[in-house]
Amino acid sequence: FDVEYHDAIPSTNARARDLAGEGTTDVVVLADEQTGGRGRLDREWHSPSGGIWLSVLFRPDVPMAGTPVFTLAAAVAATRAAREAGVEAVIKWPNDVLVEVDGEERKLVGILTEMEGEADRVSWVVVGIGVNANVDPDDIPAETAPTSLSAVRGEPVDRRRFTQRLLEAFDTVGSDPDAVLDSWRDYSTTLGRAVRIDTSQGTVTGEAVDIEYPGSLVVDTGEERVTVAAGDCDHLR
Ligand code: BTN
Repeated sequence: FDVEYHDAIPSTNARARDLAGEGTTDVVVLADEQTGGRGRLDREWHSPSGGIWLSVLFRPDVPMAGTPVFTLAAAVAATRAAREAGVEAVIKWPNDVLVEVDGEERKLVGILTEMEGEADRVSWVVVGIGVNANVDPDDIPAETAPTSLSAVRGEPVDRRRFTQRLLEAFDTVGSDPDAVLDSWRDYSTTLGRAVRIDTSQGTVTGEAVDIEYPGSLVVDTGEERVTVAAGDCDHLR
């Protein structure tokens, strides 16, 4: 993978999408600061200097339906890198990386995957990963309940090393869906808990019992097992 570094850029995902449009592949776009960072549901993603804001562009030989596993792989990779840096991160379904701070789960990493292609084969995938690394959580809007690696550790992380570990872990785990799901289970804070999931088809409440390829949550409602492909997940306790 080539690395393209920017001191400041509107969004590494937008840049990676442009590169995809030009026919490029196997690039990591990395920035110290994003001036127009985007989150899921087109929300703003605050990206001050000191964070790790990156996007990985690649062209896997998979159908569109297989792409959620790459998002899970990114969550696994970020969690592994955080734990190596001494931060006990966990994953909330599907791909929020959280850390417990004073009994409250706070967000450390956000992931936004974008892609294009046909149903039976993707043309390109961009996995955008935003790590609140050496940033002050007070500089990030409070609605996301943010924390950062430096806030949890009490000292900054080596961003270069962290990024290297993150990308290595993504590369290792990313090509093997079973390995992704196994690691995801290990790191999950959702499995075994009572959850409420808002989906486009309504609300599912019950106990989260497993994750299935390509990233669906299996919920035991007490009456039946429901497989939820996508939705907003709340931990009830
Ligand atoms: C979310 O949790 O809503 C996803 C946040 C994704 C943020 C990352 S930072 C690097 C990449 N570039 C962007 O504009 N967004 C992603």
